[in-house]
Amino acid sequence: MTPDLMGEGARRLEHAKSGHSGNTESGGRAAGFSRVAAAAGEVDVTHGRILYLEDVSVSFDGFKAINNLSLDIAPGELRCIIGPNGAGKTTMMDIITGKTRPDAGTVFFGSTIDLLRYKEPEIAQLGIGRKFQKPTVFEQLTVFENLELALKTNKGVKASMFFKLDSAQSDRLAELLHTIHLTDSVNRLAGNLSHGQKQWLEIGMLLMQDPKLLLLDEPVAGMTDEETARTAELFLTLKGKHSLMVVEHDMSFIRTISEIVTVLCDGAVLAQGTLDQVQADERVIEVYLGR
Ligand SMILES: Nc1ncnc2c1ncn2[C@@H]1O[C@H](COP(=O)(O)OP(=O)(O)O)[C@@H](O)[C@H]1O
Ligand SMILES: [Mg+2]
Repeated sequence: MTPDLMGEGARRLEHAKSGHSGNTESGGRAAGFSRVAAAAGEVDVTHGRILYLEDVSVSFDGFKAINNLSLDIAPGELRCIIGPNGAGKTTMMDIITGKTRPDAGTVFFGSTIDLLRYKEPEIAQLGIGRKFQKPTVFEQLTVFENLELALKTNKGVKASMFFKLDSAQSDRLAELLHTIHLTDSVNRLAGNLSHGQKQWLEIGMLLMQDPKLLLLDEPVAGMTDEETARTAELFLTLKGKHSLMVVEHDMSFIRTISEIVTVLCDGAVLAQGTLDQVQADERVIEVYLGR
């Protein structure tokens, strides 16, 4: 970034901070300011929500995969989402991350950022990280190189060619390696890691970008019991620092990490509460847990 651009960014940020809402009839400038504020690490959560979906619907060939879905998540919350296959869990994440555009509804990040105005890469830059089901690490690179690369992304070709970790970033990387249990594997090729370790590495790559909200789709599928237990520990340490939305089928894993559990079915919320509450719910037993 040129000094000029940085100066301009700082001016706009000051302006945004000083309380000018920037509202216009079109709302266009307000959207611009939200983006600047968010880029500086500020999502407006004064209303107690980091993510807010209201009456969201999407159809594929006439089939309503998401059907008037409303849901919100508090800052720092670790929300678990369960529900039968085809309930719309992955599609919901596709909508939040801009991969799928809904036919109707509202999707907000904090109280000011209308996510439906943004494209997928912009949403990632706003601070929403997503972990797909399959690990997608660079197998030919070491653990360290994968994490370093995660810091470089979005910096542009020239910037990343001359990119060097500064000491704060090195410290963060070391701390992160510890958090994801990969300190002893830092120089191993990612391709030689176990499935669970690859999953942790990918979570680490997301964390390098310090996301405010992390969406994790079936993160412990295929993990050993020990890896699953360590992942539960990991998520509990992330809670509070980040907001998390975790889709899983593994009920003992959910029991270890959950506060509020949302049950999705047919593209909408069927039940919500503690795991005990939703497990005792007749409708949930009927469609998902079985008798
Ligand atoms: N891109 C798509 N095109 C057509 N149908 C889709 C698409 N994505 C999801 N679906 C359908 O939407 C429904 C919900 O799918 P999904 O969100 O993957 O459910 P879950 O993750 O809860 O198992 C399924 O019936 C699925 O076949
Ligand atoms: Mg899915």
